[in-house]
Amino acid sequence: MTAYFNGLVLRSGGTRPDVAELHMPEVGPGQVRVRVRAAGVCHSDLSMVNGTIKPSYPLVLGHEAAGEVVEIGDHVTRAAVGDHVVLNWQPACRSCWFCDQGEPWLCSTSSGVASLENGVTLDGGPVHVALGLGAFAEQVVAPENAVIRVPSSLPLELAALLSCGVLTGAGAVRNTAQVRPGESVVVIGLGGVGLSVVAAARAAGAAAVIAVDVSESKKALAESAGATDFVVSSDALSKEIRSRTSGRGADHAFECVGRATTIRAAWRATRRGGKVTVVGMGSNDDVVSLSALDIFSSARTLRSSVYGSADFDVEIPRLAEEVQAGRLKLDHLITDRIGLAEVPDAFDRMTRGEGARSVVAL
Ligand code: APR
Ligand code: ZN
Repeated sequence: MTAYFNGLVLRSGGTRPDVAELHMPEVGPGQVRVRVRAAGVCHSDLSMVNGTIKPSYPLVLGHEAAGEVVEIGDHVTRAAVGDHVVLNWQPACRSCWFCDQGEPWLCSTSSGVASLENGVTLDGGPVHVALGLGAFAEQVVAPENAVIRVPSSLPLELAALLSCGVLTGAGAVRNTAQVRPGESVVVIGLGGVGLSVVAAARAAGAAAVIAVDVSESKKALAESAGATDFVVSSDALSKEIRSRTSGRGADHAFECVGRATTIRAAWRATRRGGKVTVVGMGSNDDVVSLSALDIFSSARTLRSSVYGSADFDVEIPRLAEEVQAGRLKLDHLITDRIGLAEVPDAFDRMTRGEGARSVVAL
């Protein structure tokens, strides 16, 4: 395996990323080298390009990926050469306070959304890798706890989706909000994440799943994911939702955009005592305003869901099983198959609200 490989590099904020030749370090003890085969384009990647979040540059983008283990360092026990794995951008140490509490998605040793240097170089100088991975690249070197084995019979492009958007969406429904059969659910924002929320809410037995987007073109995608209703977002959204939920508002609303205005819309779409789950990642300077009296008297719960409040090491293999058994359908999520150089066009489609997931084949 050559030490040189192609990756998609963002040189500074607001510029168009380009494909560049990178150099991979040796695989150290406890590390694995993965030949990436499929990587999904997630809104968090776009957020690094458009400045919603501010990483360090130059940066290899990408974090929703799957591939094959091609080399392992000393003492690695979790994976062997030839295994198919998904990459985890929030690996858990299993020994910090949060991991001990059973909340590995909040592991305090993880880099979270920060970008790291991991020894990869560009033109002889250091380069950062997004979310500790930099998975829009032919290869990734990662600590072994950042890989999760999946059956080799699962197509790698579907496995890739499990590692971020699907786990985030399904986990928000199952773990964070705990949607029960018969409940009503509103989902605002129908990208890969929101459509995964729609599918998981339906699978959890929700009686009504009202899918909301600014883009009318999302209607067909929402329906194939299992939505019972589709509503184009407007200032009259809460009235519209009330009219479809016996005048009360929904039991649950999931915000899958990452904006203060849509968090507020999700709040207003729920009934008294309802649950609002924020799945979208917004920016630091976008502030949600709610009145103190409203917060008290509406008795609602407002909670965020980081990485689906999920123990990924358990839930990703479980999701893989569900996909293989046909209980979780993901095929409709992939609307574009592209090469590395076409990722900027996928960002443009995402900005226009077109399609669901673009997946890079590598
Ligand atoms: N109201 C309703 N829908 C909106 C609005 C709005 N005001 N603004 C944007 N949308 C829709 C877009 O049209 C698009 O369909 O939200 C959807 C977002 O989808 P993607 O851009 O594909 O994003 P996705 O990858 O699904 O991520 C959603 O979750 O993990 C986070 O960082 C991620 O914040 C992002 C969110
Ligand atoms: Zn993501």
